[in-house]
Amino acid sequence: SGRGTLGGKHILVTAGPTHEPIDPVRYIANRSSGKQGFAIAGALAALGARVSLIAGPVTLVTPPGVTRVDVETAREMAAAVDAALPADAAVMVAAVADWRVEGTAEQKLKKAAGGIPALPLVENPDILATLGHGKRRPCLVIGFAAETENVIAHATDKLARKGADWIVANDVSGDVMGGDANTVHLVSADKVETWDHMPKNDVAARLAARIASALENMP
Ligand code: C5P
Repeated sequence: SGRGTLGGKHILVTAGPTHEPIDPVRYIANRSSGKQGFAIAGALAALGARVSLIAGPVTLVTPPGVTRVDVETAREMAAAVDAALPADAAVMVAAVADWRVEGTAEQKLKKAAGGIPALPLVENPDILATLGHGKRRPCLVIGFAAETENVIAHATDKLARKGADWIVANDVSGDVMGGDANTVHLVSADKVETWDHMPKNDVAARLAARIASALENMP
């Protein structure tokens, strides 16, 4: 094993939004900046982990010591996660688009042609749930929950549904998305911890330390 409390561990992190194409020049996106996920990847690497960061389209610098794979769509992210396995832990921070446009247009949609286009949506794969319930499940699986209401109730639901050990829940009704600070709740099967409002880098360092101690107590 390497240096640091996470030496010899491989940890997978997803971060950022996904972009779901409508036609060659348009896409559906969300307000995720990728900052929290990148900070977590960096904090894990700083503790000695080998980190695979699967990143949606963001304009952030890769943290030192982190191996980054850039993807655009949810389906590309799912494939990149699969290709990065096995892992000792996974931290799924990405704000994956729930839906994609079915039958993406091969040419740019034009205004004149037949009125306003309909955009039929189909569901994207749930990357976290697939991993959490899958055969190659990492020992420790952590999901995020961005909510605007009933934050803890929704997170508790998500634990079982996604097959996660912990859900890091945050209230994104304020300026969390794109901002530099976060208030989070660490929700596990037997307890809920509310952390102080703190910089995303501090949330990352604290979560990385918790992951290190959890993995120490696992085979
Ligand atoms: O389902 P919801 O988006 O509320 O759950 C959020 C958690 O699930 C996050 O950890 C997110 O990265 C993950 N997720 C995923 N694939 C999806 C949707 C969400 O991995 N298609």
